[in-house]
Amino acid sequence: MKPQHVAIIMDGNGRWAQRRLLPRSAGHRAGFRRMLELSEYAFERGVSCLTLYALSTENLSRPQEELDELFGLFRTYFAEQTERLRERGIRILSIGDRTLLPADIQGMISDAETMTASGTAGTLVLAIAYGGRQEIVRAVNRAVKEGREVTEAEFSALLYTGDLPPLDLLIRTGKETRLSNFLLYQSAYAELYFSKKLFPDFTKGDLDKAFKAYSLRDRRFGRI
Ligand code: IPE
Ligand code: IPE
Ligand code: MG
Repeated sequence: MKPQHVAIIMDGNGRWAQRRLLPRSAGHRAGFRRMLELSEYAFERGVSCLTLYALSTENLSRPQEELDELFGLFRTYFAEQTERLRERGIRILSIGDRTLLPADIQGMISDAETMTASGTAGTLVLAIAYGGRQEIVRAVNRAVKEGREVTEAEFSALLYTGDLPPLDLLIRTGKETRLSNFLLYQSAYAELYFSKKLFPDFTKGDLDKAFKAYSLRDRRFGRI
């Protein structure tokens, strides 16, 4: 079976740069190029929804200089990729608390979402200023505000990922084996795949290996 919804925790950019005695910013730029290559490839391989963890709520406490570098890359991304993705029929969606981002990036995100809204060939989800706990608490508060009790299905619909397919495969690069506040609710039955490779070194072949490993998993969902 092929995974329909794949998510990647793109970790290891800083260490990739440090090993080369380069500034961390060089690692983020290398990771950015890798992200462009892998997102294109994942859709070619039949993935219908690709969710990329680009910036966590916790990452917002990094030094301003590093955040400015990352914000610069997001600006480049939306300026250069929106039209390209629209032509390919890919819908862009950003999840997270975008009010924590610079105003111009908030605008670029809404423009990209609007411009690509009718795409049906796939969905590219960028998790920016995203935190899984924040997402869950936000959903709870939305339900409370409406004064209602919710079922699991209704609760799922209140998450940022409400209209996305269930998460099949969650990949983390960069050696750590933790979720770092990513898709906490959605990963309940996702298959987890950890790679020791730092994200800028994670190739299309490595993504294929992850897909292969997924295809060999037995997803029982609690049954026998
Ligand atoms: C992941 O790489 C990218 C972001 C968190 C934005 P890191 O910057 O966390 O790289 P390491 O973990 O320090 O190597
Ligand atoms: C997770 O990586 C966030 C992203 C890849 C965007 P981190 O580098 O922030 O995770 P920790 O700090 O090692 O848990
Ligand atoms: Mg890291």
